[in-house]
Amino acid sequence: MNVAVIGTGYVGATTSAALASMGHQVIGVDVDRQKVESLNCGRLPFYEEGLEQLMQNLLATGALTFTADLPRAVRESDILFLTVGTPSNADGSADLRYVEGAVRDIGRSIKTHKVIVSKSTVPVGTGDLVKTWLQEELAKRGTDIPFDIVSNPEFLREGKALHDALHPERIVIGCESDKARAVMTSLYEGLRTVLFYTTVRDAEMIKYASNAFLATKISFINELARLCEKTGASISKVARGMGLDSRIGGQFLRAGIGYGGSCFPKDVEALLHLSRQEGVPLQLLDAVARVNQEQAAWFLQKVLRHLGPLSGKKIALLGLTFKPGTDDIREAPALRLIPELLAAGAELSAYDPQGMEAVRRLHPGLRYAKDPYDALAGADGALLLTEWQEFLELDYAQVKRVMAGAVLLDGRNALDGEKMRGYGLLYDGVGERGTG
Ligand code: UDX
Repeated sequence: MNVAVIGTGYVGATTSAALASMGHQVIGVDVDRQKVESLNCGRLPFYEEGLEQLMQNLLATGALTFTADLPRAVRESDILFLTVGTPSNADGSADLRYVEGAVRDIGRSIKTHKVIVSKSTVPVGTGDLVKTWLQEELAKRGTDIPFDIVSNPEFLREGKALHDALHPERIVIGCESDKARAVMTSLYEGLRTVLFYTTVRDAEMIKYASNAFLATKISFINELARLCEKTGASISKVARGMGLDSRIGGQFLRAGIGYGGSCFPKDVEALLHLSRQEGVPLQLLDAVARVNQEQAAWFLQKVLRHLGPLSGKKIALLGLTFKPGTDDIREAPALRLIPELLAAGAELSAYDPQGMEAVRRLHPGLRYAKDPYDALAGADGALLLTEWQEFLELDYAQVKRVMAGAVLLDGRNALDGEKMRGYGLLYDGVGERGTG
């Protein structure tokens, strides 16, 4: 099938490559000409495992191209995916300006029936707005071209984007006509997965509800970790014991310094905003956001307990990105901690395999090390903030030797505490056996 994917950010680039690799003819569209040019040369503006290579292969076969010419992409495609960004407004609501811009551009260009599929995360009811914007543009042209609106939310995780796009556990398709349903069914024919059909509004809500529920699991376990620490229980053992019950499930129960990224914080805020707007407060979700905000401050108290007044203390930060496998630092918990540590007078030396360039722009005064040992050299204490595999495989005897002090605080519960103590390190995790 001929598909246009409008917006070549994270979701757009992955969707384009995934659909092209499934045998469709795909045109990725972006207003940023420079970006289009570099995409056409096979260069991705962000890091995502395997994606750049796949994109280069697909560009070479001609299955995938990129353009800034939206009318051409619309003309040549039957299905138009909307994958533009939906950033947050100051009040937490989703800013739909890019969605509206793209939809009105489509409305000015279409000449034949199109299926317009929203993959951007949008508040419930946006499908109706899309319909209105399109109808307004068509009315301006004095035409009445038929179209279908579909909501097909994306559930991919950064760092696993291609895998998630090609092996999804489910595909949610919110549509309201047999024609749209048939088109979407044949689009995804090649994937062995469950296609779950709903209304557009249901699909829009499923996306927010899924992210909000996963965020809830994380804040639940993080708050419980604080109690475990006081009562002498181990949160990792508690989480494993709970997770063996299939009704609970073991995933997203890893305690740490809080969730970050481009989705959870933004989507939780947007859902809260929607709930207030509708006069149906989501009290539980409100607490989820609050607990997450507090978690970094809670961890900072632990740092203070172990290292005393921080003035003049050298602290090594291992990891800056919001999770491993990405160069994304959006809403990264490390960014909540850095200003607090600096304000307390600590001297910071940081290392991250992918995130240093972006953090350097925000905090040019930090020392950015050439490798983990360089970051740890002479440090009074070390904080593990992102569980990159590289950090799990360090030679911790060597770590102990290069550090001036011995405090190792694991903000991700990713290391084996007993082993670390065996190396003479003063190890502490999050919610582990009252070591706090
Ligand atoms: C998430 C959703 O998983 C995905 O389905 C959606 O499309 C976009 O948002 P992503 O933001 O890429 O994906 O990252 P994810 O792996 O879900 O992690 C989000 C945050 O939660 C990270 O900061 C991670 O460190 C944290 N996390 C995750 C925990 O603190 N504990 C856990 O047990 C799991």
